[in-house]
Amino acid sequence: MGHAADPTGVIRIGLDLVEIGRIERLVDRWGERFLKRVFTEEELRSSLGRRRSAEHLAARFAAKEALIKAAGLPSGWRRIEISNRRSGEPYFSQLPEGLAPERVRLSLSHAAGVAMAIVLIEASLPRRPVAPPRAGAGRCSSDGGRGRAG
Ligand SMILES: CC(C)(COP(=O)(O)OP(=O)(O)OC[C@H]1O[C@@H](n2cnc3c(N)ncnc32)[C@H](O)[C@@H]1OP(=O)(O)O)[C@@H](O)C(=O)NCCC(=O)NCCS
Repeated sequence: MGHAADPTGVIRIGLDLVEIGRIERLVDRWGERFLKRVFTEEELRSSLGRRRSAEHLAARFAAKEALIKAAGLPSGWRRIEISNRRSGEPYFSQLPEGLAPERVRLSLSHAAGVAMAIVLIEASLPRRPVAPPRAGAGRCSSDGGRGRAG
């Protein structure tokens, strides 16, 4: 009946902004060593085949960082994979253990030299136990709190 007995849902969010030039510099300097450390084969295939590949890579880098922030995970970039649906909408096609895909949402944008990602995770918490009232706490008494006359 009361709200206290309802399951409590919270939304966790993570946001990350990546300078596209930084990704270009890392690729120039480290090449495959950088790319294969951070991105999955599928991400490299889909991003490197596009006209402005660095912005797609930067957006995916931002998405991984945003997920890591939202979920409070230790970093592990290659355990996270971003793909696009037929409509173009991005989603996590691979998530670290413990994260349910249907509870995670992602949005990407790239413009003016930066890429950004925002991640929402709907976290479902166990039902909050309804605490029994502490003895005497919040009790209204008509005798000014002096106790029952006996
Ligand atoms: C989707 C759209 C808003 C992207 O906006 P934009 O200003 O061109 O580009 P942004 O830099 O802000 O965002 C680009 C990112 O949007 C995301 N995106 C693309 N299509 C999307 C969609 N349908 N829904 C949600 N996100 C989408 C992608 O992740 C893309 O980055 P990526 O290609 O690196 O993965 C724009 O393409 C649009 O208005 N499309 C028309 C609507 C549409 O195509 N709907 C799909 C009908 S099937």
